[in-house]
Amino acid sequence: MSAKILVLPGDGIGPEIVAEAVKVIEALRRDGLDVELEEGTIGGAGYDAHGKPLPDETLALAREADAILLGAVGGPQYDSLPRELRPERGLLGIRSELDLFSNLRPAILYPQLADASTLRPEVVAGLDIMIVRELTGGIYFGQPRGIETLENGVRRGFNTLEYTEPEIERIARSAFEIAMKRDRRVCSVDKANVLEVSELWREVVTRVGEDYPEVELSHMYVDNAAMQLVRAPKQFDVMVTKNMFGDILSDAAAMLTGSIGMLPSASLNAEGRGMYEPIHGSAPDIAGQGVANPLATILSVAMMLRYSLNRPDDARRIEDAVGKVLDQGLRTPDIWSEGTRKVGTAEMGDAVVAAL
Ligand code: IPM
Ligand code: MG
Repeated sequence: MSAKILVLPGDGIGPEIVAEAVKVIEALRRDGLDVELEEGTIGGAGYDAHGKPLPDETLALAREADAILLGAVGGPQYDSLPRELRPERGLLGIRSELDLFSNLRPAILYPQLADASTLRPEVVAGLDIMIVRELTGGIYFGQPRGIETLENGVRRGFNTLEYTEPEIERIARSAFEIAMKRDRRVCSVDKANVLEVSELWREVVTRVGEDYPEVELSHMYVDNAAMQLVRAPKQFDVMVTKNMFGDILSDAAAMLTGSIGMLPSASLNAEGRGMYEPIHGSAPDIAGQGVANPLATILSVAMMLRYSLNRPDDARRIEDAVGKVLDQGLRTPDIWSEGTRKVGTAEMGDAVVAAL
């Protein structure tokens, strides 16, 4: 039976970059990849079509799918909607409904792009970090949350940062399992000098680490980790951290690689079913212009083939094709530099297909 992939283009540049990723999937299908594609709406597109950022039909399709490919959500036209109708709620909703707690965000520097990084080439050359971000808990989901007006008329906004032991345990296990297939080093990032929840985090990660004696475990406070990421990023192999710290650190790690337009991600549940998306947002400022970099989304398809569809050879084919296209000197504006050829979204996608 063919595997079902649900495609959710979303908003802003989402449809443009997803179209290029779909071209790549179609090319692999012609070579025998047995998948079926379905499409759904999410985010602002879900709201426009069905009045909700996570329409019921989308969620039903998502539950049936073997894997999901998502573009991006969000746009200024939705900013004034009530919070529960905003596009981001669609994304958080699907992550939570499918229990996609383990978010893998690899930051790999393609050697061809060493000059595109704002850091000196010797600082980033050979960079290969995997950020494992907890994705369905922490301050993003903790209760209570809200904005209230106190008796004296002063307004107060509040969120709750919470993690249970089982939540910490499963994300820690995810990180150690991944480290076993890499350089066997895990750095757990927390704020245990201030937060009780981090104290528990550190204790549980340390305990889980005892099951992985081959893996070297270290702990780092998040402020120091942010600094180390831009000071000496190659010291890291796997970083594991809470939802919000992972959100922030993965954007920083992305820029080490030249552009946030290059980085894919996988969000997995306990059965390894997953959603795959570029880590960047919907970039409304460049939407519709055909200039967005589709490589992060195309590389997300590679992660999908590897983690959900058990097709490591096809995954490698895509990654090699991206390398070839960069070798040919093709660059979207975000990674362009003197001496390379500036291309648009579709031309980049076509080039990857040709290089497959
Ligand atoms: C990400 C994004 C999302 C997040 C937003 C769009 C809700 O920044 O995937 O990193 O904060 O998780
Ligand atoms: Mg983010």
